[in-house]
Amino acid sequence: MQGGRSTLPCRIDGPGGQPSGCLNETVSYFLDFGRLIVILNSRVRETQKSSRPEEAPGVSAGLRGAKEEAMPLYELRKFVVPEFIFGVGARWRLGYYARTMMARRVFIVSDPGVIAAGWTQQVRDALAEVGIASTVFSDVSPNSKDDEVMAGAAMYAAERCDVIVAVGGGSVIDCAKAIAIVHANNCHVRAFEGVDRVEKPGPPLICIPTTAGASADISQFCIVLNSAERYKMAIISKTVIPDVALVDPETTVTMDSYLTACTGIDALTHAIEAFASTASSPIADVHALAAIRLIWANLGQAVREPHLMPARENMALGSLQAGIAFSNASLGAVHALAHSLGGFLDLPHGECNALLLEHVVRFNAPTAPERYRQIGEAMELDLRGASSQILTEQVSQALSTFRNRVGIVGGLAARGVSAAVIPDLAAHAVKDACIVTNPKYANLDDVKAIYGEAL
Ligand SMILES: [Fe+2]
Repeated sequence: MQGGRSTLPCRIDGPGGQPSGCLNETVSYFLDFGRLIVILNSRVRETQKSSRPEEAPGVSAGLRGAKEEAMPLYELRKFVVPEFIFGVGARWRLGYYARTMMARRVFIVSDPGVIAAGWTQQVRDALAEVGIASTVFSDVSPNSKDDEVMAGAAMYAAERCDVIVAVGGGSVIDCAKAIAIVHANNCHVRAFEGVDRVEKPGPPLICIPTTAGASADISQFCIVLNSAERYKMAIISKTVIPDVALVDPETTVTMDSYLTACTGIDALTHAIEAFASTASSPIADVHALAAIRLIWANLGQAVREPHLMPARENMALGSLQAGIAFSNASLGAVHALAHSLGGFLDLPHGECNALLLEHVVRFNAPTAPERYRQIGEAMELDLRGASSQILTEQVSQALSTFRNRVGIVGGLAARGVSAAVIPDLAAHAVKDACIVTNPKYANLDDVKAIYGEAL
């Protein structure tokens, strides 16, 4: 499946290092209408009215005037979600889907932790039951790396596989997505960094997530570590949307408490950033707010009592809804800064988000107070009558308390970040595609300041 645009993103740095060319490309990508050019800078928007088909030459001046007065209530937005099955037991539909895809040899992408938990063998057994052979590739680190992707693509070709099944967390699924497009396009994974840079879709991909947070199983995002430069590359393309996601809450019970906390905060960040995004939409908003409510009410219990299924089911649902929201509305500065930080420190992605979220909210909320008021209310805060300044502080403080309560304590300094490395971290973060839809324009100095506050 290809995107509506075929042009490649340019990386021309604008003021403060903002990749201005990438800005327009990214926003157009999320709108999916190349004729509509949206320039977002401090939430100022301009549209090219002459691009509307009904305003083509030949329309009378009177009619044209009437149409110009009738401004649409909603901006143009596209919405893409893959086929998915949600609920306990969803994983047992694997054999049916693999047979529908006429698989002969399935390439299973997993990792040692998921193998030890027993989920990978269940996948092999389910395929064997319907007479389908499989090969397992499990050399995937917690932050999947470019050389692991290339090794997986070589193995996929050597084993003559025809369908990919990813069973694992976000890194496993991102690795599987990257293997698929490397195989189809026969080039290095680093060539795909950015927005809409993948020409051909990969082979069929079925995902069975074993965490509740990344939502890589339904998103058009693929994150891979550039090991030479130590930062995470964001690949955004409709070609990386899986064909089927089997979202089964039972597969998340083997996460330990800390992984549960990190992945849960990742999902919460997806929902908050999607709702605050300049590419948000009424349809994405519904899922984003529902996700915030579910995660806020259930993450603590999932961390304290990992085998309690109702909390696991609600977290899986919250993560799924957050994924639906962010895959269509994109993200913001938290993810841009976290990608740079995670690549530098090789820390869990959700932990990076948790350490940055409250500081980015403090930066963003005064620019879009009504959006953050709704976010705060979904977090069960009473913000009636609160000024922009007070609600900013209350939402930020509540997020800080929340992440500490689920066990993610301390700041960046405790994890080895010093002020000396902030310029390097910031240089990568301002070029990340996710920063383009942040509600407040963030230049290089802003990003340095946020990292500094998070120390
Ligand atoms: Fe994330």
